[in-house]
Amino acid sequence: MNAATMNHAQHAAHTIGGKLVGVTDLTMRFGGLTALDQLNMQINEGEVLGLLGPNGSGKTTFFNVLTGLYKATSGSIIYKGQEVIGQTPQEIYRSGVARTFQRSRLSLPLTVFDNIVIGDYQHMNHGLFFNLFQRKAFRAEYDSYVSKVEALLNIFSPPLVARMFEPVGTFTMIDRRRIEVCRALLSQPRLLLLDEPSAGMTHDETEALMDDILQVRGKLENLTIVLIEHEMNVIERITDRCIVFNYGKKIAEGTYAEITADPNVQTAYLGEAE
Ligand SMILES: Nc1ncnc2c1ncn2[C@@H]1O[C@H](COP(=O)(O)OP(=O)(O)OP(=O)(O)O)[C@@H](O)[C@H]1O
Ligand SMILES: [Mg+2]
Repeated sequence: MNAATMNHAQHAAHTIGGKLVGVTDLTMRFGGLTALDQLNMQINEGEVLGLLGPNGSGKTTFFNVLTGLYKATSGSIIYKGQEVIGQTPQEIYRSGVARTFQRSRLSLPLTVFDNIVIGDYQHMNHGLFFNLFQRKAFRAEYDSYVSKVEALLNIFSPPLVARMFEPVGTFTMIDRRRIEVCRALLSQPRLLLLDEPSAGMTHDETEALMDDILQVRGKLENLTIVLIEHEMNVIERITDRCIVFNYGKKIAEGTYAEITADPNVQTAYLGEAE
């Protein structure tokens, strides 16, 4: 049986536990614009949570606040018992929150290896002194990164291992996305935030990428994933639960079947005149 024929339950090797993240009255204003408006929600340990909503409803802003890129105007985000608001992006990253970006953030001339390791820069011993005078230790650290990246690529996409030292610019869109997810996974996060990973890909590529993500989830215990996604069939296939935003508020929450049947959700999407 290959990944494409497995259903969700067969992938779900681990159980969904209690609250990993609790969001209370979270508000983010940009001047006069309220991007997150008194948002209340929670992320459960081990789940794949789908985050949906029309364009501009605050999904990316939520990731930006949760990862410390923006400081919320008010409200609270408790992650593993600690307040996130006020922590630096580095502190939050070190505590196990990793993400990918809506727009690709790879450096095309650099190799796959370099692009993946850049994500873990904060953990690396990169001082000049260390570099020049502790060559042996530097070499050991470098080698350990090579094996780490190799192991990750092997889990995620084995054909990429042989091309680890090729520039990213020579890869297809789907492989670039795979590389970005590997970069996020390098720090062994507890919470992985994926901002529209299917953007710019074909239907088949999206399916393949989602299979990879489900495989990874089966192999990495305790990984919780929040996925922003517009493609409803992806949401249906890989999420345990969904939350729908509109104008920075949570307007619905539940299984895919529940949220798609919700009149509030239908109005939010139909109201978005195209
Ligand atoms: N740095 C910023 N400065 C000013 N306004 C911002 C900033 N970031 C986001 N916004 C505004 O906040 C609102 C929410 O944007 P956000 O990017 O979170 O939406 P989204 O749900 O991710 O949309 P999409 O599906 O298009 O990616 C939008 O009106 C956006 O223009
Ligand atoms: Mg967005």
